[in-house]
Amino acid sequence: MILAQLTDSHLKAGGRPAYGRVDTAAALRRAVAAVNASGADAVIFSGDLTDRGDAAEFEALAEILADLRAPVFAVPGNHDRRDTLRAAFLASGFHDPRAPFCAGVAEGFPLRLIGLDSSVPGAPHGEIGAAQLAWLEARLAERPDAPTLAFVHHPPMRTGIRHMDVQNLHDGDALLALLARHPQVLHLACGHVHRAVAATLGGVAVSIAPAPAHAVDLDLDPAAPPAFRLEPPMLRLFRFADGVLLSHLACVDPAPGPFPFFDGEGRLID
Ligand SMILES: [Fe+2]
Ligand SMILES: [Fe+2]
Repeated sequence: MILAQLTDSHLKAGGRPAYGRVDTAAALRRAVAAVNASGADAVIFSGDLTDRGDAAEFEALAEILADLRAPVFAVPGNHDRRDTLRAAFLASGFHDPRAPFCAGVAEGFPLRLIGLDSSVPGAPHGEIGAAQLAWLEARLAERPDAPTLAFVHHPPMRTGIRHMDVQNLHDGDALLALLARHPQVLHLACGHVHRAVAATLGGVAVSIAPAPAHAVDLDLDPAAPPAFRLEPPMLRLFRFADGVLLSHLACVDPAPGPFPFFDGEGRLID
């Protein structure tokens, strides 16, 4: 199974650039083309799909995501609005309609996918909350033998980028402790930081996917101001085969090539 992760597209409506500079619609279109080219069987979208979370942005989002060949399962970030996102993705059947938070489970793939809602209305940081942790515990207890990937917008770790670390997942330790009790959870995939980061926390493999548009500046000076760069856009591709889950970081824009290593006679090109 190939699973693509999109995150933090911060889509604006009407072609407006984000922060006066970033063409988020063009970036998301290119990312969708890259996901289609990857042959992904499913796509997870780990929040900040839109920049302001209003209906116009979600309409623009639906128009671009309509080109995706694989089903997409989304959870909100701090820039989205939970109810607007839930309405926009109603047809996916992903979100648990009984839950006040916007979380869901996708079955029917070799990897079970569980998306969590870490958004806190009006705040930039993330929280799962006791009610959603209880919901997650119940979902994991349903199928203890099913290899599972969990995904959420805010990461439970501090990355060293201070202005992002103060708005990480504030109850991340509780989430990690819960996941560690369910060893069928092979990975926790996050967004929010707009950079590729990986860690093992309390025995749980955690990663943050890079964004298709702007990257948060990699400046580990605690006094660094919040800033972004227009780095080459990337996305994360998970591969699950023979019981092993791993991830590749893939360039969104096609690079020159592919070029052969061997000539027509099977000799290594010197
Ligand atoms: Fe973001
Ligand atoms: Fe975010």
